[in-house]
Amino acid sequence: MSTIRIPDVTLNDGTRFPELGFGTYQLRGEEGIESIVAAIGTGYRLLDTAVNYENEREVGEAVRRSGASRDTLIITSKIPGRHHGRQEAVDSVLGSLGMLGLDRIDLQLIHWPNPSVGKYVDTWRGLIEARERGLVRSIGVSNFTEAMLTELIEETGVVPAVNQVEMHPYFPQERLRAFHEAHGIRTESWSPLARRSELLTEQVLHELAMVHDVTPTQVVLRWHTQLDSTPIPKSADPDRQRENADVFGFTLTDEQLAAISALERGRLWDGDPNRHEEM
Ligand SMILES: NC(=O)c1ccc[n+]([C@@H]2O[C@H](COP(=O)([O-])OP(=O)(O)OC[C@H]3O[C@@H](n4cnc5c(N)ncnc54)[C@H](OP(=O)(O)O)[C@@H]3O)[C@@H](O)[C@H]2O)c1
Repeated sequence: MSTIRIPDVTLNDGTRFPELGFGTYQLRGEEGIESIVAAIGTGYRLLDTAVNYENEREVGEAVRRSGASRDTLIITSKIPGRHHGRQEAVDSVLGSLGMLGLDRIDLQLIHWPNPSVGKYVDTWRGLIEARERGLVRSIGVSNFTEAMLTELIEETGVVPAVNQVEMHPYFPQERLRAFHEAHGIRTESWSPLARRSELLTEQVLHELAMVHDVTPTQVVLRWHTQLDSTPIPKSADPDRQRENADVFGFTLTDEQLAAISALERGRLWDGDPNRHEEM
């Protein structure tokens, strides 16, 4: 089967970044490796992992087995809450490199800000150092609010390249996306399919799927890309991986985008970064 070509955008540090990537949460063991190899074969180049997914080893192994040229792939990992702090963050990156078996991480994020711990600015300084040392190419954050992003920028002068946040039609993140756009931060959507839930049974998605001769899932993923966010859908299944990547052959109108955003009702669970913390 042919490889799907996923378009790129340019991040604020000048690097290229796919408009759609692949989530790997819960893909572990031999089956996980095979799923990730299949995804790379389908055309995904952006792979999303984290220390806390406990599958960096599998992601690295899939990269090697896929036979894909290393430079075409963008491997993302994330610093867990228990590694916050400047030196701890650098050590965490070194640990991730060891687990991945790679000599560079392409995009390194802070997984959650954990505001009660009060160390996300120090952690950010650690990522800046990791970038200066060539351990990582791009640096960004995940689950950061406008206020937290502003603090990072004011304290260090370094604007994150990416903020990976919960985003799907039930939680379109309109305000935060406008802030990102004003500051040149790329939005990346986690749980872009709302972890499947009942989202994919919504009538408006089925109607638009009929109009464009695609599936409701493809309508949702195209909505993300047209709102300038990079979704990272996870699927263990090669057929669904292909369906999820094959979304660049049609275009939703502004009215159709608005009809999808009108599904807004809030977060999937209480993942408000002002309160939710993960170690
Ligand atoms: N930064 C953070 O705090 C954070 C938080 C959550 C997630 N993430 C990242 O975001 C990624 C994606 O989020 P997610 O895994 O929570 O949820 P998701 O991608 O929204 O949904 C995944 C679920 O949808 C199913 N699915 C995928 N494609 C489908 C299709 N075409 N038709 C029907 N069902 C489909 C999958 O099942 P099958 O596997 O059986 O296809 C799986 O159950 C994660 O893997 C992780 O990398 C980051």
